[in-house]
Amino acid sequence: MKTISTLRIEKRNTSKIGDVDFSNLAFGSVFTDHMFSCEYANGEWQQPEIVPYGPLSIDPSAKVFHYGQAVFEGMKAFKDDNGDVFLFRPEDNWARINKSSVRLAMPEFPKEVFMEGLTELLKLDDAWIKPGDGNSLYIRPFVIATQEGVSASPSDRYKFLIILAPAQSYYAGEVNVVFAEKYSRAADGGVGYAKAAGNYAAQFYPTDLAKQEGYQQIIWTDANSHEYLEEAGTMNVFFRLGDTLITAPNNDRILDGITRKSVIQLAEDAGIIVEVRPVAVKEIVAAAKAGELKEIFGVGTAAVVVPFKSFGYKGVNHKLNAPENSYGMKFKNMLNNIQYNRAEDSYGWRVAVK
Ligand code: COI
Repeated sequence: MKTISTLRIEKRNTSKIGDVDFSNLAFGSVFTDHMFSCEYANGEWQQPEIVPYGPLSIDPSAKVFHYGQAVFEGMKAFKDDNGDVFLFRPEDNWARINKSSVRLAMPEFPKEVFMEGLTELLKLDDAWIKPGDGNSLYIRPFVIATQEGVSASPSDRYKFLIILAPAQSYYAGEVNVVFAEKYSRAADGGVGYAKAAGNYAAQFYPTDLAKQEGYQQIIWTDANSHEYLEEAGTMNVFFRLGDTLITAPNNDRILDGITRKSVIQLAEDAGIIVEVRPVAVKEIVAAAKAGELKEIFGVGTAAVVVPFKSFGYKGVNHKLNAPENSYGMKFKNMLNNIQYNRAEDSYGWRVAVK
C-alpha cells in the first residue's frame, strides 16, 4: 500500500447549518458541510481530501451502477455535555469495511488514512454534533467502483468516501416484525456477512410486502430451511427466554455486528446467561405460547437497541409485552452511558476525537 500522503482540506465558504431544524430530523436525510474522499487508481490509494459536501461526477458506465461493487459502514459520533466528541469502537468499523471490500474484490483502505480523515472531518463539522441523549452524528463510510465500462470484472478504480448525517432515533414508531417464510437475505457462501450495498437492496421488496401486512421489519431466517432466525431487518437480533439471552452465531450469512458483540459482552459481564447458537423458529413460537418469551430486540449502530412489539408467523401475530426489567432497555442505557461519556468504559470502546 502507498505511504500516506498529506490530507488536503478544502473548506466550504459558508455553512448550511443555519437551514437545519435539529429538532425534527428524519434519519439520514440531512448531511453536513464536508465529506472525506479518496481515489484508488494505478493500484494504490491517492491523496485523501476533505471537500465541501456535494454531488459526484461519475461515468454512467461505472461498474458500481452495473455490478453493485459497493460496500459501506455505519458508525456514530457522540458529544458529551462538555462538548467533547467520541466514537464507539471505530477500528472495528474500519476492519469490517475492509472485510466487506475483500469479499467484493475491492481494495482495502489503510487504517491511518481512515482514522485521520474521519477525525479531521469530525473536527471540521463539529457544530453538527449535538449533545444530549438520542442525538448523534451518523457516519457513513462507503466505497464504490468507478471504472468506466460494462465488462463484468472488478473495477480498477474506486472512491472511498465518508459522509455525515446528524441523527436522532432511527425508528419513529413501534416496530413489529414478521419471520421470513419465503424470501431470504443471505445464503451460505454468499455475501451476507459483508456490508454490501446489494444485501440491503434485496431486502426492500420483501420488506415492502411485510409492511402491507402491518410489519415494519422482517426477521430473516436461514435460506435453506427457513427454520432458524438470523437477522432482523438491518439489525442483529436477540431473544430472551426466561432470563437467558439467545442470539444466532456469526457465519457467512450474518453481519458481525459491533453493537451485537458489545451487547453480548455487557450481558455476560452482568451475569446474564448468553447462548450464541442457532435459534429455531419452532422454539421461539413455542416459548411465546408458553409465556416464556419475554423479549425480542434488534441491535445495530443506527437503531442502537429496538424492542419489538410483536412478531408474526404463519399468519398469527404474537404480542410481546415489555417486561419491567427489560434487557433491551438495560443494554441500551449501558451502551448510551459509555457512548455519551457518562460512565466508566472499562472496555476501551470509547475513543475521543481530538
Ligand atoms: C447501521 O446500523 O448502521 C445500519 O447498517 C443500518 C443502515 C442500513 C441504516
